[in-house]
Amino acid sequence: MKILLSEEELRAGVEKMSSQIDQAYAGKPLTIIGVLTGSVVLLADTIRLLSMPLRVGVVQAASYDGACRGELRINSDLMPDISGHDVLLIDDIFDTGHTLKKLVDQMKSLSPTSLRTAVLMRKSGRQEVEFDVDFIAFDIPDEFVVGYGLDFNDEYRNLPYLATLAPEDVAPRDLGSDGIQQ
Ligand code: IMP
Ligand code: MG
Repeated sequence: MKILLSEEELRAGVEKMSSQIDQAYAGKPLTIIGVLTGSVVLLADTIRLLSMPLRVGVVQAASYDGACRGELRINSDLMPDISGHDVLLIDDIFDTGHTLKKLVDQMKSLSPTSLRTAVLMRKSGRQEVEFDVDFIAFDIPDEFVVGYGLDFNDEYRNLPYLATLAPEDVAPRDLGSDGIQQ
């Protein structure tokens, strides 16, 4: 395991992105929705850096299949009402982009006043969908990363830094022991 982003680097990146978010909304009330489970650490750190009146909610996205990533399932039971609200959807990582794109498509049908997206990381060379993320703290190389909320087989989410796992350690890809990737 190799450290890709230290605690200090993460803090600086999250502070910078949070101030961009603060400036973009200029004090207007915001509903921030974190994608479970990977965004929990980023969500907790970001909300404490934002200064507008804030509502906080979560939505769950999981994809599963025997060998590789399967169909995305979205559970929005815990999501607050977003109709007529300015909404920011926040996730840990933008990889292929399918998760955020599908979430945004689904949430748009609930008539938010506006809907933007923020991620801690965007992995280079992996994007498979036409989609622009509004706020990005870090661009990272195409490596499997863990820590600061991100897991491998449900482990490592609690690491305060971000580390890369060697390719031989992550085969078969990023699925949990129960076949659920979250
Ligand atoms: P996407 O739909 O391909 O953009 O995948 C996004 C989701 O895949 C993220 O929310 C993560 O849960 C998971 N993911 C993608 N890359 C990594 C990684 O390097 N480490 C841990 N989880 C990852
Ligand atoms: Mg996730």
